[in-house]
Amino acid sequence: MIYTITLNPGLDRTLTVDAIRDNEVLRATASRLDWGGKGFNVARGLHVLGQPSTALGLVGGHTGQMLAEGLHGLGIATDFVTIPGETRTNTVIAEAHSSRYIKVNEAGPTVPPAALEAVRGQVRRLATPGSYWAICGSLPPGVPHDFYAELVTLIQGAGGYACLDASGAALRLGCAAAPFLVKPNAEEAQELTGVALDGIPATRQAAAYFLAQGIQIVALSLGAEGLLLATRTETIHARPPQVAVRTLVGVGDALLAGVLYALAQAMPLVDVARWGVAAGTAAAMLEGVDVGTPAQVQAMAALVMVTKIA
Ligand SMILES: Nc1ncnc2c1ncn2[C@@H]1O[C@H](COP(=O)(O)OP(=O)(O)OP(=O)(O)O)[C@@H](O)[C@H]1O
Ligand SMILES: [Mg+2]
Repeated sequence: MIYTITLNPGLDRTLTVDAIRDNEVLRATASRLDWGGKGFNVARGLHVLGQPSTALGLVGGHTGQMLAEGLHGLGIATDFVTIPGETRTNTVIAEAHSSRYIKVNEAGPTVPPAALEAVRGQVRRLATPGSYWAICGSLPPGVPHDFYAELVTLIQGAGGYACLDASGAALRLGCAAAPFLVKPNAEEAQELTGVALDGIPATRQAAAYFLAQGIQIVALSLGAEGLLLATRTETIHARPPQVAVRTLVGVGDALLAGVLYALAQAMPLVDVARWGVAAGTAAAMLEGVDVGTPAQVQAMAALVMVTKIA
């Protein structure tokens, strides 16, 4: 079984305008709503690949209800903890014919200690040997920086595999608990390791920093350069073909879904890298947080260049 954990979800509302102008009423020419939440994106990516999962997370109010209904509508199971207040709405105002935009993220409600205790209880109840857990995104107000580290310890104490995609202090402290897998992007890895990622040797050095902490798989995603996937014994570089990029929101989450899918099928590491990049790049070619269809991801997988570096 695969579980995703999203403690800080949000509804992403994108309003398209002809031109962004100050102090004027602008008319939206299009609007769209996306269920924003990095773990939810992973759940969607898994679903498209035919891999069931259960989405865990903290939700509140009508917006939280909409997120739950949105996921159920796609056929994704949820097991949410309800918090007081309203799940946040993040607003993007984007120009139709340029890449100019304004994005405003709400902080979201402060999480009470009882809700965190409920999440710990869920993890204790659901973590079984061999279960995979994607722990994704930022921590909302009220959650201590070492909460992901705590979850990693709980999951792995029960024989599960914790896979962490976070940034800053939550990533740093989470890594110290030695999760099975981490998925930093180049910027996150650079910030944490202090290594400037200017080429494959430097990227391998950054991956070594994570492996030295006892992490078993480092999936260091490199945007258009693909993915460096490293274990203690193998290093693989998977590169996507050149594609027409539409939106890059959630591509790292799509990549993590591809990686988890391949791991859950017990594929060899070269194929884990291939499916990760295929899912990420298929998502990059689509609007919003849309993920590819199975056919799109499959077609992309055939075009990914996989090189064994060591
Ligand atoms: N310009 C691009 N062209 C092709 N594929 C891309 C491009 N940018 C990203 N991707 C695909 O998406 C994957 C993840 O990208 P990236 O490293 O930017 O993730 P991220 O920064 O974690 O994204 P997120 O915003 O979801 O957190 C890449 O490994 C690649 O497969
Ligand atoms: Mg990311």
